Amino acid sequence: MYERMLEAAKKANELSYAPYSNYRVSCAILLKSGNIITGVNIENASFSLTICAERCALFRCYASGYKKDDLVSMLIYTNREDSMPYPCGACRQVMVELFGLDKDVTIVNDLGRPETYKVKELIPMTFTEESL
Ligand code: THU
Repeated sequence: MYERMLEAAKKANELSYAPYSNYRVSCAILLKSGNIITGVNIENASFSLTICAERCALFRCYASGYKKDDLVSMLIYTNREDSMPYPCGACRQVMVELFGLDKDVTIVNDLGRPETYKVKELIPMTFTEESL
């Protein structure tokens, strides 16, 4: 499944809109059905309005009618060789709520040496809906 997700993320990476940073990130989310939903980073001249690939992919899943339980795993990819696309803090927080603490996130760049972490490893001591 890793190969399918990587292939989907590589294809989607071409759709990244990153004219300011030129840092192209894509994200592939595997659904229980076997389908894959992708997302890319989309930047804006008003920089803070940029959305990361991970949130783009998660929001696409929800906007398509899928929920946490329908999502199996996530792969994050950048076409670079000199850095890994570790998810930012905002995306980690959104993963907790929309993806799930026990799910796997695989992070890989063009060198192809994937690292896999649970969401709960990426964001310990979480603030969740249960905290409210
Ligand atoms: N970015 C992502 O899309 N995901 C990450 O995991 C890290 C950062 C984007 C945001 C921005 O468009 C560019 O990468 C540089 O920060």
